[in-house]
Amino acid sequence: MSRLLHLDTVDSTNSYLKTHRADWPHGTVVYADCQTAGRGRCDRTWVSQAGGLYFSVLLKPPYNPFLSNLTQLMALSICQALEIYGLTPAIKWPNDVQVGGRKISGILSETVFDKNTLEAVVLGVGINVSQDGLENVGQPATSLKMLGVQTSRERVLENVLRFFGQGYPALCEKGFETIYAAYTKRFAALGKEITVNNGEKTIFGTAEGISPRGTLLMRTAQGQKEIYIGDILS
Ligand code: BTN
Repeated sequence: MSRLLHLDTVDSTNSYLKTHRADWPHGTVVYADCQTAGRGRCDRTWVSQAGGLYFSVLLKPPYNPFLSNLTQLMALSICQALEIYGLTPAIKWPNDVQVGGRKISGILSETVFDKNTLEAVVLGVGINVSQDGLENVGQPATSLKMLGVQTSRERVLENVLRFFGQGYPALCEKGFETIYAAYTKRFAALGKEITVNNGEKTIFGTAEGISPRGTLLMRTAQGQKEIYIGDILS
């Protein structure tokens, strides 16, 4: 990734890059100390007090069928960066990262089209680095500090971007298969009973695995189901 911008405070690093997408080249990364209107998936708020790492990456790839897998590459890159500290992170499909069953990172991917032309993909990442109190974030959460890891946000950012940059060209060319083994190894729910909301309904079953496309394979009372988008609720 090429250019790194630092902002003290911004509404949202994703919003910033979407607004300024024409001003910055592919690969620009912006990170902020605080966000006043940090956004999560499904219109949720991302609490963004000092101590967390909040950054977004501006990507301008030619349209390709693997864009939805970019968040999975980012989740894998975050795991690889956290493993440097001796942690054992796991991916809650499709792209939350947890340690010990508690969320440490989330990713929000947004695309901007002009008519039918893809102008930009903005991948936004929040990682809990040195926050102490994460009781108010609405779900079990943890931070590097709470796990006994003392490091800087910049160091974590540098490592995540390095892993992401290494995997990006192959993913755009050949798709999820290039990270299938590494991603599946860190897939938290394998073999477990899970409940998934796919935006339309709630589905119960056993997590059988991840497909070569990165979708979730579930064994349900009605047979195997392939889930393209959704959230694992438990
Ligand atoms: C989620 O788990 O719901 C996704 C959270 C994504 C939060 C990051 S913080 C940096 C970037 N800017 C935002 O407003 N959101 C993302």
